[in-house]
Amino acid sequence: MKENKIEIPLKVYDYEELSEADCQLIDKAKEMTYHSYAPYSHFSVGAAALLTNGEIVCGSNQENAAYPSGLCAERTTLFYANSQYPDVAVTTIAIAARNESGNFVEQPVSPCGACRQVMLESQWRGGVPLRILLYGTEGIYELSKVEDLLPLCFTADDME
Ligand code: THU
Repeated sequence: MKENKIEIPLKVYDYEELSEADCQLIDKAKEMTYHSYAPYSHFSVGAAALLTNGEIVCGSNQENAAYPSGLCAERTTLFYANSQYPDVAVTTIAIAARNESGNFVEQPVSPCGACRQVMLESQWRGGVPLRILLYGTEGIYELSKVEDLLPLCFTADDME
């Protein structure tokens, strides 16, 4: 038996330490939480994706009375970005969330497994690392590529 450990590089920033471009993306993700449709969970998530052409595509979680029909902010945003600009890579996605009390979460929101998998495919399509910024009032996490959020990931290459 061999025991392995997988470590992931995770940077934690204060808002003031971020670049102007990253602040703008975080601000947009926060703004998008107010466009969320979350009458069931009361958890409002917003996302903003920066593309290599300079466009910023935004989205929020959209729920449904038939619960599984709803979609997370990350997938709403990436599917929209990839639909609008199929040949343009997404370089950074920022995600923010507000809880039932309407406050931004203290600890960064953690994207669900399905969103991580969609981020991975979006990164693969774009051909450049997709950086992830997760907003929390106590600190902002930066992951420089999707594999850091999804170690031992499954891609199309695994089927070869
Ligand atoms: N949600 C997101 O939009 N993104 C995440 O990273 C976590 C969860 C949404 C899905 C659902 O509408 C609500 O938050 C509660 O799970």
